[in-house]
Amino acid sequence: MVKAKKFILKKQFSGAPKPTDVEIVEEELPPIKDGEFLAEAIYLSVDPYQRVYTQNVGQVMIGLQVAKIIESKLDGYPVGKYVVGHFGWRTHTISKTLTIPFGIIPDFGNLPVSLALGALGMTGNTAYFGFLEICKPQKGETVVVSGAGGAVGSHVGQIAKIIGCKVIGILGDDQKGKYITEELGFDHYINYKKGNVKEELTKYAPVGIDCYFDNVGGDTSTAVISLMNKFGRISVCGCISIYNIGTNNLVNFSPNAGVFIRNELRMEGFMVTRWTERWSEGIEQNLKWIKEDKLKYKETITEGFENIINAFIDMLNGKNTGKAIVKVK
Ligand SMILES: NC(=O)c1ccc[n+]([C@@H]2O[C@H](COP(=O)([O-])OP(=O)(O)OC[C@H]3O[C@@H](n4cnc5c(N)ncnc54)[C@H](OP(=O)(O)O)[C@@H]3O)[C@@H](O)[C@H]2O)c1
Repeated sequence: MVKAKKFILKKQFSGAPKPTDVEIVEEELPPIKDGEFLAEAIYLSVDPYQRVYTQNVGQVMIGLQVAKIIESKLDGYPVGKYVVGHFGWRTHTISKTLTIPFGIIPDFGNLPVSLALGALGMTGNTAYFGFLEICKPQKGETVVVSGAGGAVGSHVGQIAKIIGCKVIGILGDDQKGKYITEELGFDHYINYKKGNVKEELTKYAPVGIDCYFDNVGGDTSTAVISLMNKFGRISVCGCISIYNIGTNNLVNFSPNAGVFIRNELRMEGFMVTRWTERWSEGIEQNLKWIKEDKLKYKETITEGFENIINAFIDMLNGKNTGKAIVKVK
């Protein structure tokens, strides 16, 4: 008999999440049946959407994990293989067949299996499809990325550099700014907590902005959009600046209507699952870029299952660079 530990929502999040909003509960798992396998969590993913979509008291905190199969009565899922699954914040899970975008993790060669939660998983595909398919960037264009020091943003900026764009990253920390410019090749960074974003953008993008990959929404996006060129493209990936307020609580969402009309801008939101059928294309291309040393990744790793709530709060407060994950084992 396996005892699983899981984090459940004890109190609905209100404003910034607190450690006391969740609690750890133990659960005895039954023996697995034919057609099932038992997996043990190795890495848990910490993501902004968990703030928005975990809403019901008593529910297990949602989230992706990399888990190792430790018992199996399911063909194609042998003991010892690693899977990526939407199992939530729990140590052990009984599962049936997984379908794309989940399933057995492909061979990454010498790279860590944790990348299935980041650059070689949902994060990487969000950057790959959300940027290329919606912004349709062209060589020589100017691209702005918000949330640029985080998992998706740091990946998007590097793809833009691969294409040959000028790239400006907006983020909230100078250390992260140094990282994206000195190590990842971004041309400039702007610290939204310190400077005037619009003034700095005018300086760094004197001929205007062609593509904007938006992870944050709010005032930052208002400033970026006001400086966009004719036929500019905006990919709306996320709006983390309002996750603690509630994404349905905005009443005045009419961003720069004048500039939209004058410059004939196109703004499109997306869910990465739109490209489920092309999932492996994104993973393979990102893997190829990593192997060619054109794409770098960084993970901010917190040790210990019990610490995931702190890792989550830290990520929402900008303490991570690159992908925030928790190492369980
Ligand atoms: N549409 C989709 O299918 C999809 C899929 C995955 C992710 N997303 C979205 O993509 C965005 C980035 O996700 P991620 O996993 O890569 O997370 P992340 O960027 O690695 O981590 C979140 C970052 O957001 C920044 N942040 C926090 N509060 C902020 C605020 N008030 N204003 C501006 N920035 C703030 C922090 O960095 P600073 O130090 O810069 O403040 C923090 O490190 C999120 O909005 C997420 O919801 C969307």
